[in-house]
Amino acid sequence: MTMSSTGTKLGIQDSPEPQPKLRALLVEDNALDAALVVRALCKDGFDIAADVVQDEAAFTRALRTHPPEVVLADYNLPNWKGMEALKVLLSEGLDIPMILVSGALGDVTAVECIKQGATDYVLKDGLARLPEVIRRALREKNERSLRHQAEEDLARKIDELARSNADLEQFAYVASHDLQEPLRMVTAYTQLLSERYHGQLDESAAKFLGYASEGAQRMQVLIQDLLAFSRVGRNSAACGSVDCNAVMADVLLTLASAILESGAVVTHAGLPAVWGVRTQMAQVFQNLIGNAIKFRGKEPPVVSVQSEKSGQHWQFSVSDNGIGIPPEYAENIFVVFQRLHTRNEYPGNGIGLAICKKIIERCGGRIWMESQAGSGSTFKFIMPSHGPDERVGGRP
Ligand SMILES: Nc1ncnc2c1ncn2[C@@H]1O[C@H](COP(=O)(O)OP(=O)(O)OP(=O)(O)O)[C@@H](O)[C@H]1O
Ligand SMILES: [Mg+2]
Repeated sequence: MTMSSTGTKLGIQDSPEPQPKLRALLVEDNALDAALVVRALCKDGFDIAADVVQDEAAFTRALRTHPPEVVLADYNLPNWKGMEALKVLLSEGLDIPMILVSGALGDVTAVECIKQGATDYVLKDGLARLPEVIRRALREKNERSLRHQAEEDLARKIDELARSNADLEQFAYVASHDLQEPLRMVTAYTQLLSERYHGQLDESAAKFLGYASEGAQRMQVLIQDLLAFSRVGRNSAACGSVDCNAVMADVLLTLASAILESGAVVTHAGLPAVWGVRTQMAQVFQNLIGNAIKFRGKEPPVVSVQSEKSGQHWQFSVSDNGIGIPPEYAENIFVVFQRLHTRNEYPGNGIGLAICKKIIERCGGRIWMESQAGSGSTFKFIMPSHGPDERVGGRP
């Protein structure tokens, strides 16, 4: 065995059970100690390829030419210090376990070295421990890189999702916004046609014109709904504390005629303040209570709005005694334009719940439905009780 400033190669392969080659970089001035370390590892089944260096220049060179899986460093060297190897690893941006293999090292020094970033330490007269220490270090390193990889994958996916959501929103907005103008022309001219040529068209032509105009009107409503949906979050209305009692009072006024016509009884016990946008919270309650009244059964609607605290959120429930919803549609009903009935049975376009979901999720909340066909529905949602800076533990 020879040793030079460029380092020495060691490789003893008398292992009983050959394993994948372990590339180790030894920071060691004593050739005999280096050979003992390699022997201890080979005895334990390691197939080891080791470079031995004893100063910073050779260490850095070895890192770059043969990046090792583990660094085994003596604490004291004539021209260098083993702990200095850590700084080099850091400056090279390498996450390689560094284990001190040293003569007597006091407990205090050992703890200090580990605090500074050494993975572990093994005394030269206790080399039998070294294989297990290396295995554990490699395992931990592997777990670290898997975790790092998973975190990076997750961050990338979140990024992609946010981008594709933004693209979709932009598309829905542009499409619905820009479709309005040509559609207005279609509506206006079909209307003009039917007015100007009233009585001059034969029966079929008048019927076809009627269909065209109905279709155009319907499309106008759909486009307006789509625009309303894509506008949630486009306007930069700031979130703030919203008193749900005040919101509820407004909503009940808006729904007054529907409540009167249906004979509905809507109850709500003292509601809390949540973190959101007032007009949007009104949209949520208006749609949920409006639905509860619209999708009523034979009995007059009985609608109950309740709230309970759940950690840093409030959980609301809006329950009714209406026609109910089969559980298999629990997800679908929140999708844009998804309805379970024809427009002749119940009016509407299927946009209300999609808007509720978007509003609630944008505030960091969640909405879901618990219901059985025929036994009423309960819509539940959670909203944050405070803004991000005011939440307990939310401050840096
Ligand atoms: N309280 C309820 N009871 C029974 N079915 C409901 C209830 N709320 C919603 N649904 C079902 O979910 C569908 C979607 O509801 P959503 O509010 O999105 O649309 P809509 O009320 O039909 O139309 P819009 O809200 O656009 O006027 C409804 O068409 C209905 O089938
Ligand atoms: Mg609705």
